[in-house]
Amino acid sequence: MQGKKILLGISGSIAAYKMPLLVRLFIKAGAEVKVVMTPAAADFVSPLALSTLSKNDVSLHLSQNNSWENHVMLGRWADLFLIAPASANTVAKMASGFCDNLLLAAYLSATCPVHVAPAMDEDMYRHPTFTNNCKKLESFGDVIINPTHGELASGLVGMGRMAEVETIFTHIEKALGTAQRLKGKSALVTAGPTYENIDPVRFIGNYSSGKMGLAIANALANEGAQVTLIMGPSNVTASHPLIEQINVRSAAQMLEASVAHFSQSNIAVMSAAVADYKAKNIAQEKIKKSGSEGLNIELEKTTDILKTLGQLKTDKQILVGFALESHDEENYALKKLKEKNADLIVLNSLNDPGAGFMQDTNKVTIYNKNGSKIAFELKSKSAVALDIVDQLITLL
Ligand code: CTP
Repeated sequence: MQGKKILLGISGSIAAYKMPLLVRLFIKAGAEVKVVMTPAAADFVSPLALSTLSKNDVSLHLSQNNSWENHVMLGRWADLFLIAPASANTVAKMASGFCDNLLLAAYLSATCPVHVAPAMDEDMYRHPTFTNNCKKLESFGDVIINPTHGELASGLVGMGRMAEVETIFTHIEKALGTAQRLKGKSALVTAGPTYENIDPVRFIGNYSSGKMGLAIANALANEGAQVTLIMGPSNVTASHPLIEQINVRSAAQMLEASVAHFSQSNIAVMSAAVADYKAKNIAQEKIKKSGSEGLNIELEKTTDILKTLGQLKTDKQILVGFALESHDEENYALKKLKEKNADLIVLNSLNDPGAGFMQDTNKVTIYNKNGSKIAFELKSKSAVALDIVDQLITLL
């Protein structure tokens, strides 16, 4: 974590007493740490202990010693904002845009990724408002570090216990990309829709936004991989220095670029929503309304890029495909895994609210060629990308 800047936000929960240990782990790993606390958090853990360990002043109030505490610069300073423990109250305020303490002001103005480790008693954890608030945070792009089952402050045993400090540390290490597990590897990612021209003004397309593919490219690059992102028509643009983005329009152009880069790639993730059919003949002039009531456009199949790469694949390459299904999901996903010679298939079901096209969240099940299957919760697309990258790393 050498040189990485972590802003740690602590809210009022008994789990706050563990935070000095986490600060120590970050500092020992070479990170710079600043701490911002809610006033309630100071009842559970000493600001003096945190400032001593972080070697920085702890920010507690919107104004301190007659001067205004610059929450905007706190959020801009950080490479990552971790809010741990995040109480039900703080999560609710974050989801609703409240700004009545310094931690919330820093959250609202943070420009860096935000990771949230909730902590609360099981009944609060199970309350639908908390579930909805977490979904809201994920829709903003924040990543939730799921609580676990265990002993709670109430004396009960159940869900809601904050993830262990070591788990949070490993999660942040991955999110910052400091583990660099893919250093020296190269990866190819397809993303977005394709547009198949019908005439000079019309095309066959789909609603894919390219956000899932961009999130995967970012996650791979954060782990140190050199990434080629082949993007169909979309507004999203990669900014990571390890990502080279190639913009294409049609399935044929995406195929050509993918095949050209595949042999140099250790990893290929095909997340694009490629058109399955294109017009057999593209009209050179705009098709005019004719006297007849109907219009038939003859379509022909495009080449399946994933399947083509599956045929070219060597034992040293990892190939990941997606399956977007509306029914009989598992059967179709397993069929695609086998027929396209993929190592992993990431299934999106159109029946899951919050998953799929044009959303900032996704809910996936990952099928592995070794027969295993993992079903994940609804998460932000960047959190789903971390899960996909974790899975493919186990295969490398
Ligand atoms: N895919 C591809 N080239 C195509 C069509 C699909 O590379 N011409 C890839 C997608 O990028 C995805 C996977 O194949 O990784 C599955 O895409 P999906 O649309 O779910 O399935 P299809 O194979 O197109 O089959 P169907 O539409 O019948 O479900």
